[in-house]
Amino acid sequence: MSCFLCNSSLGKKLVMSVTGCCLVLFLLFHMSMNLVALISADAYNTICSLLGANWYALVATAGLAALVVLHFVYALILTINNYRARGTQRYAVTANEPGVEWSSKNMLVLGVIVVLGLGVHLMHFWSKMMLVELMGAEGSMVGGEFIHATDGAALIAFTFSKWYNVVIYLVWLAALWFHLNHGVWSMVQTVGWANDTWYPRIKCIAKIVSTLVVLGFAAVVVAFFVCSLCGDCGSAAACAADACNACTDACCAGHTH
Ligand code: HEM
Repeated sequence: MSCFLCNSSLGKKLVMSVTGCCLVLFLLFHMSMNLVALISADAYNTICSLLGANWYALVATAGLAALVVLHFVYALILTINNYRARGTQRYAVTANEPGVEWSSKNMLVLGVIVVLGLGVHLMHFWSKMMLVELMGAEGSMVGGEFIHATDGAALIAFTFSKWYNVVIYLVWLAALWFHLNHGVWSMVQTVGWANDTWYPRIKCIAKIVSTLVVLGFAAVVVAFFVCSLCGDCGSAAACAADACNACTDACCAGHTH
């Protein structure tokens, strides 16, 4: 079994598919959870507390990290094997061949952008939440304000009050869209469900899934940025401290005044 997963091309693609599938499920969960921040900061922070530095959340984080590493390492191995087999022409088709999309030829580049974006994202959030809790602290200073380790809503409001973070996240999400779009389709094809009848359906399902995931994440980024434009609202900690008089609840991600 281990030989099949390490040595055969199909085995490696299977590892890519299974890890990719688990990561898509995580993204659907993570995106749905983030949408709660649009409705109520308190509800969002309750979820953040449940997923804080508890043993089950730590096990899930370790599992998630293992999935990302496996997915990325196998992608590298497959790409290197492709180069070895075909030289610089990875696919036996020309760039303009109909039906071969840009994303399918740039999965590794897109994957690298997704991983780099993930690094920035983990610095923005994970390092100020779970890591802070693991280090035994209550919270940390973010942009000159103290934000509690379970106050995910305040961190979101702070992060997306900066236009450059909005740009970085939207570029990251665009790369994620292309990556997921091809990845979901490719995963189903590897598993062997992509016959003539199912091919167009699966492409359509892949587009719907990747669009849903990316639009859900982007909605949070854009909504919090727009809210931050109304005065002090970018500082959710200020909202929580009743300092933001002009804000509506939506501005302050539902923080109670
Ligand atoms: C753009 C909107 C997003 C927001 C507002 C957001 C928010 C957050 C927050 C608040 C956390 C910390 C949770 C905690 O430690 O309790 C987190 C962790 C994380 N996020 Fe996101 N996220 C977004 C998009 C993404 C995307 C697109 C990905 C993947 C491509 C992603 C992957 C992760 C991962 C892997 C973690 C660490 C999870 C863990 O500790 O188990 N996030 N995110």
